Amino acid sequence: MAKTAQLIIDGKTYEFPVIVGTENETAVDISDLLEKSGAITLDFGYKNTGATKSAITFLDGDKGILRYRGYSIEDLAEKSTFLEVAYLLIFGELPTTDQLNKFSGDIKNHTMVHEDIKKILDGFPSSSHPMGVLASLFCAQTAFYPEALDPNRAAEGVYLSIVRSLAKMPTFAAWAFKNAVGHPVNYPDNRLDYCSRFLKMLYALPAEDYHVDPVVADALDKLLILHADHEQNCSTSTVRIVGSSKASIYSSISAGINALWGPLHGGANQEVILMLEAIRKDGGDTEKWINKAKDKNSGFRLMGFGHRVYKNFDPRAKIIKKAADDVLKKLGVNDPVLEIAMKLEEVALRDPYFIERKLYPNVDFYSGIIYRALGIPVDMFTVMFAMGRLPGWIAQWKEMRENKEPIGRPRQVYVGQKLRPYVPIAKR
Ligand code: SDX
Repeated sequence: MAKTAQLIIDGKTYEFPVIVGTENETAVDISDLLEKSGAITLDFGYKNTGATKSAITFLDGDKGILRYRGYSIEDLAEKSTFLEVAYLLIFGELPTTDQLNKFSGDIKNHTMVHEDIKKILDGFPSSSHPMGVLASLFCAQTAFYPEALDPNRAAEGVYLSIVRSLAKMPTFAAWAFKNAVGHPVNYPDNRLDYCSRFLKMLYALPAEDYHVDPVVADALDKLLILHADHEQNCSTSTVRIVGSSKASIYSSISAGINALWGPLHGGANQEVILMLEAIRKDGGDTEKWINKAKDKNSGFRLMGFGHRVYKNFDPRAKIIKKAADDVLKKLGVNDPVLEIAMKLEEVALRDPYFIERKLYPNVDFYSGIIYRALGIPVDMFTVMFAMGRLPGWIAQWKEMRENKEPIGRPRQVYVGQKLRPYVPIAKR
């Protein structure tokens, strides 16, 4: 017997189907609520609203579970590689050796960008935040590959756009950084793996025989895996809604980059380090800053803490916290803010304010400490998040388009003026 839910409005009962997901999540399907009842629902921030059915990523916020296509994030972070995870998210299965070699080889063939991209880059002053440059360069692909604007593009054309996106994102990211520091850009060295190729473009100076530290490349590969997808978060929902208008993959993902930039979302990793540095400079009094975070009038939040879905530890934060320890030891880096971060976590997790609100460290709380140890500048932290999240955005955009989902167009409750006559300016 199919499960249903009833809603009573003005004494009339309406019945709606209840659907149950793979992991027994329950949803009331209100697709015909307006047609049946004339009423809509209201849910600021969509805290209680499902936008779609998806087979890509599963989160359990209470148990702190994260799985990509059924594989646990712990397994993938320990045993997989970023390109293998990208293939899994986008195509639904772990690749065979031949499939991965072809995917990686196709990506290598597209790491270069058109020389005219430099003209766009030159238009950005060195004071530009790399996230704004990245979003612009990524969207500029619509100019160089106009065939991607065709909403009915054949599958092989979509595959080419996917490969170009993954191939050129590191080049755009490294070039955005070089623009910020006023250095000449580097071209991709396709003899290297995905992360090493990026790191060499990021750090190599002209005519330098730059060698990438494998410890750094491995740590970055793990971080990109941990950021690769996270179901219907703010930036992914942005990619989906822009893509639902049949906008190209490049413009949809560029919109996602901009959504990720916000300090409440991916921009938090940069804010965490700035916060930890401020606490260190202020003498490291964690109790004082915890109290500030609890004071609504302070305007201060403990950045890297809290999550819309996780009401337990963010599993990524646990993995990154351990990785931070390992990487700093391997690189011989002693970062005083790591100790402050651990002290903040210890104090917060025994404080009733945080306990009652189920506020735990999220993915951004420790990631910045690793990025810093890898020598990545703080303005580039959210760019690293975008590089990691790219396969997730691609997978979600592809799923939405393959499922032929309708254009996203939420409704509203109007609370403005009733009808009123126009008043000429002389009479106002
Ligand atoms: C990411 O959605 C995703 O999956 C995102 C992400 C992904 O992988 O895509 O996981 C990546 O964006 C991680 C989150 C990074 N952002 C931060 O670290 C910024 C700090 N955290 C928050 O601002 C907040 O916790 C959010 C934005 C993450 C979640 O906000 P919600 O779900 O809208 O919760 P809320 O703002 O309504 O807070 C509920 C209560 C409030 O107190 P009361 O009004 O109930 O008294 O908790 C308090 C908030 O004031 N609160 C905090 C807090 N976070 C929430 N108080 C102090 N410090 C904080 N960090």
